[in-house]
Amino acid sequence: MTSSSSSVSKISVLGFGLMGAQIAQVFSQAGYQVKGYDVSDTQLRSGMELIRKGKYGLENSVAKGRMSKEEADSVLSRISVESSLEHACQGSGLILEAAFEELKTKQEIFRKVIQISSDDAILGSNTSTLSISKISEPFSTEIRSRFVGLHFFNPPQIMKLVEIVRTQDTDKWTVLKLKEVCLSIKKTAIVVSDTPGFVANRIGISVFAEASSLLEKGVANVRDIDLAMRLGYGYPMGPFELGDLVGLDSRLLNMQALYAETNDERFKPPAVLEKLVQEGYLGDPKLKKASKGGYYEYYGLKRPSEET
Ligand SMILES: NC(=O)c1ccc[n+]([C@@H]2O[C@H](COP(=O)([O-])OP(=O)(O)OC[C@H]3O[C@@H](n4cnc5c(N)ncnc54)[C@H](O)[C@@H]3O)[C@@H](O)[C@H]2O)c1
Repeated sequence: MTSSSSSVSKISVLGFGLMGAQIAQVFSQAGYQVKGYDVSDTQLRSGMELIRKGKYGLENSVAKGRMSKEEADSVLSRISVESSLEHACQGSGLILEAAFEELKTKQEIFRKVIQISSDDAILGSNTSTLSISKISEPFSTEIRSRFVGLHFFNPPQIMKLVEIVRTQDTDKWTVLKLKEVCLSIKKTAIVVSDTPGFVANRIGISVFAEASSLLEKGVANVRDIDLAMRLGYGYPMGPFELGDLVGLDSRLLNMQALYAETNDERFKPPAVLEKLVQEGYLGDPKLKKASKGGYYEYYGLKRPSEET
């Protein structure tokens, strides 16, 4: 276990859903004290349950021999959950918001956070699609200098990348501190300018959009398109299998947001994707209980990862 970064030792995670809870686990595993906050007590409970018993949670890590029972207990002891925003933000050097993907919700959270947090706390958002500049727009230049995107990928316990998204107002100190923090949690950070989709999703969604266009033109089926990218380009997973893994409802939301932000026809959600989501095909049913299936179930094909 690495020790936490010297200048930031306490982290607040605001919004304790799928990403917030798992991110809290990542920070705690690296030695940070973490406070989680959510408007819903049910979410605070289910977030802790995810940390304990989720697929990438502590019990599984112990069962797989990746962590001792004592380590898992100490990771848990460093995470506390709060239903008071003020308590959750007290003494934190980094306040990371992972609430619903809505501009107004995020701005409202930060409006309150600014009143109660310390003057040098870094303020970050884990948004996938919203503009960091827009979220921070209502605030002073001084606040905006400490404001960034800190974009983790799901599942954050496994995915190595973090995008540090800087706006025109984010100062160098903030970016430097965050690079240090990312290193301390064993993530590789890339620094990107605030642009719709940032880097990874922008490219990933472009590939998915092109694959969907080939599918709709009847050039090849989903499995063969995925095989082309796996075997021809060395991608660990083709765009449709990845879409099924991420969740087709999330993919659709990401594309809608990217299309709305850019007005670029490339990102217009493909008709097949819209149809699948409408019919309840929300992704791989092994990962999403409420889903009828993903592209592979819809077309009755076998995922390449199940064979190779
Ligand atoms: N799901 C992903 O794969 C993924 C990946 C990277 C980034 N993100 C981003 O992370 C953020 C959270 O996504 P998620 O998938 O964890 O969503 P989620 O729905 O699982 O969790 C969101 C949480 O925010 C809470 N919330 C809503 N309003 C709040 C408020 N005012 N104050 C505090 N908490 C509030 C909700 O109760 C909920 O627990 C979004 O911005 C999303 O774009 C998601």
